[in-house]
Amino acid sequence: MSDHSTTGRAVGAHMRTGALKAGERVQLTDYKGRRSTITLAEAGQWHTHHGVLHHDALIGQPEGIVVTNEGGHQYQVLRPLLNDFVLSMPRGPTVVYPKDSAQIVQLADVFPGAHVLEAGVGSGALSISLLRAVGEHGTLHSYELREEFAEIARANVDAFFGDAHPGWQIHQGDAAVVPTDIERPGSVDRVVLDMLAPWDCLDMVSTVLAPGGVWVSYVASVTQLSRLAEAVRDSGGFTEPEAHEIMLRTWHLDGLAVRPDHRMVAHTGFLLSVRRLADGQQPLALKKREKVSEPAAEDTAAWAGTSWQAGQETADQGPVWDEANLGTRTVSGRKARRVRSHAQSIAEAAQEVPDGR
Ligand SMILES: C[S@@+](CC[C@H](N)C(=O)[O-])C[C@H]1O[C@@H](n2cnc3c(N)ncnc32)[C@H](O)[C@@H]1O
Repeated sequence: MSDHSTTGRAVGAHMRTGALKAGERVQLTDYKGRRSTITLAEAGQWHTHHGVLHHDALIGQPEGIVVTNEGGHQYQVLRPLLNDFVLSMPRGPTVVYPKDSAQIVQLADVFPGAHVLEAGVGSGALSISLLRAVGEHGTLHSYELREEFAEIARANVDAFFGDAHPGWQIHQGDAAVVPTDIERPGSVDRVVLDMLAPWDCLDMVSTVLAPGGVWVSYVASVTQLSRLAEAVRDSGGFTEPEAHEIMLRTWHLDGLAVRPDHRMVAHTGFLLSVRRLADGQQPLALKKREKVSEPAAEDTAAWAGTSWQAGQETADQGPVWDEANLGTRTVSGRKARRVRSHAQSIAEAAQEVPDGR
């Protein structure tokens, strides 16, 4: 285990450079570009239908070597980068993709030393990017409803840094209510939410976020985006919401055949960002907003899937904002427990990685 407080190196730095060590994750790429990630163990073996690869052939070697297994198959060996780690780590709920995490860190202007509040934690993918951005002098308080998810996240984050990050705390409970017992009013610099119903957190964010502080929400559907934007506007106290979508297209590079790849991750989510105004202040009524009509009950019912009849002033019953209605993946308790023990075994190995170059 690394003691970063005595080595003077940033937490996790010992797992990003130097010779490969037992306990570390490494990424093996075969001649078809297929990637597999394994955890190195002394005398360990990696079995595939192409043969056996002995971990000892990698331990002590530099990154970037090409090794041959007993079956004569070759693999290029590199440490996973943050992006690779997140996409190969054990996952409970869906993770925030690296393209979105990068934009969240930028949009929210997460700075070294910042105090950031995050919910929900899920598998901990976004937590890793936020912790990197706040550094050891910053703090990240992450709130999560489900205990198994909090444990998966803890194991993934510990595995990434090889140690507990000194600035990180996970709190279990409803992010709409628990943070106000823990955070001092106006003490949070940035809030980042990735949960089904972020508008439930409006009062909490209004209480804990400092004037000028940034609140970024990641939501999967336009119905959530719209509901959140209108709730924030109605509350006053925040700047005009801005919405973003990040599309990342990879390219095929082969001689003269240089073009976008045929396939891409076409949709992940939307980002909504606002800033907190000083207490008692109301946002400026932007001129362009005056031209925009309020959605009629008929329109609201159409996008929310609720019933409406001519002459009715409001749509019947609001929609139920659950995973089934939003078409997001649900995770059974059994699956969450299986992922948790996988993530914890990787984290235990990472904590044994020596801090030597
Ligand atoms: C999509 S996941 C978050 C994924 C995470 N951002 C990542 O990158 O791995 C959404 C999480 O929000 C949690 N959640 C939903 N409502 C919540 C609430 N009111 N308070 C705290 N967590 C909540 C869920 O349990 C789930 O773990």
